[in-house]
Amino acid sequence: MQSMTEKKQGFETACAAAVKARNFAEAAKAASGAADCAEILASRTTGAVAAAYAKETASWRQLAEKLEGRKAGTPAADRTDGGAAAPDGGEWLVADKPSITFDDIAGMEEAKRIITEMVLYPMQSPEKARALGLTPGGGVLLFGPPGTGKTMLGKAIAGALDAPFYYASGADLRSKWYGESEQRLSQLLKSAKAQPVAVVFLDEVESILPKRSEGSHAADNRLVTQFLADLGGFADSPNLLLVLGATNRPWDIDEAVFRTGRFDEKIYVGPPDCAARKKILELNLKTAYTSADVDLDALAAAMEGASGSDVSAVVSAAKRSALGRAIREDGDPVLTAVDFADARERIPLSITTEILAPYKRFMDARF
Ligand SMILES: Nc1ncnc2c1ncn2[C@@H]1O[C@H](COP(=O)(O)OP(=O)(O)O)[C@@H](O)[C@H]1O
Ligand SMILES: [Mg+2]
Repeated sequence: MQSMTEKKQGFETACAAAVKARNFAEAAKAASGAADCAEILASRTTGAVAAAYAKETASWRQLAEKLEGRKAGTPAADRTDGGAAAPDGGEWLVADKPSITFDDIAGMEEAKRIITEMVLYPMQSPEKARALGLTPGGGVLLFGPPGTGKTMLGKAIAGALDAPFYYASGADLRSKWYGESEQRLSQLLKSAKAQPVAVVFLDEVESILPKRSEGSHAADNRLVTQFLADLGGFADSPNLLLVLGATNRPWDIDEAVFRTGRFDEKIYVGPPDCAARKKILELNLKTAYTSADVDLDALAAAMEGASGSDVSAVVSAAKRSALGRAIREDGDPVLTAVDFADARERIPLSITTEILAPYKRFMDARF
């Protein structure tokens, strides 16, 4: 049987899909469904959790009402305010909350701590944060070599928060909306800013905010200028907005983005150390059987130079080879040391000194 949370999720997904299809009647129905579920969940829980569900109930009811209104008239094209109905920019809203949590991410202690202090705590206790004069929210840039878990961290933040989460990757924004990327990005940010609490995750942010120069495309320049304008003064607003950027190429980002303090926190996400590599091995082997000759400590130690995604890839390759053997020999699927040795030969390690050098130069020049 479906749990109430799953039922609510079903309505949320249906609502997002209907909004996307501009079927506002359907969306309104789904929003009321989500409100009903949230109300039931509120009645079944206590304390902060119940309060969060009550808040959610109210916001779903509100959204349902707005969608009802929209159903009755006001064709979308005539609207200019952007705030009164289902938020434009809603196409970036992530309806299915990722199930990844902070515990699924190895290492990255500093990133987790900063995110916890900047968003999770202030969201849990906004009154306490205000009493301390803390302005919650802000901008955080995660940078570091590919495959170190930056995108994963963004998903975990979405999973941890009871707040709308907007996700846009630079590549999507550019390819899908070529020529109108800046309007799209602007809509996304406006819609997020209109929410009491929201998180915006801009993945591959270097292609959203590339260095402006004489030779660069006018469209690129507009994108950066517009972004800076849209984010201007968001610290003064009573709404809580967290803008996260992730990039493998921080040096390609326009200088002004750093100068103007749009990303107050810059966090280097480096390759996993030995302990983190071991944890990634364990995380990826949670549901698999390994034979006694597999020594994860030794394996983790030997994989110096592996990114998190290399470690995951080695486990996947080892699993495939174990599966092949199990089928050939009609035996149980169990990973052995030989599977790991074969996998390691096939998967090259991606973190070299040449890869790391530009990050070091970037940090030396900037901090
Ligand atoms: N710190 C980590 N903890 C657990 N898994 C990781 C970690 N870093 C990378 N991975 C694995 O590698 C994959 C790719 O990571 P990703 O978040 O896409 O990296 P990035 O965005 O930094 O390029 C993840 O889906 C995960 O399987
Ligand atoms: Mg990524």
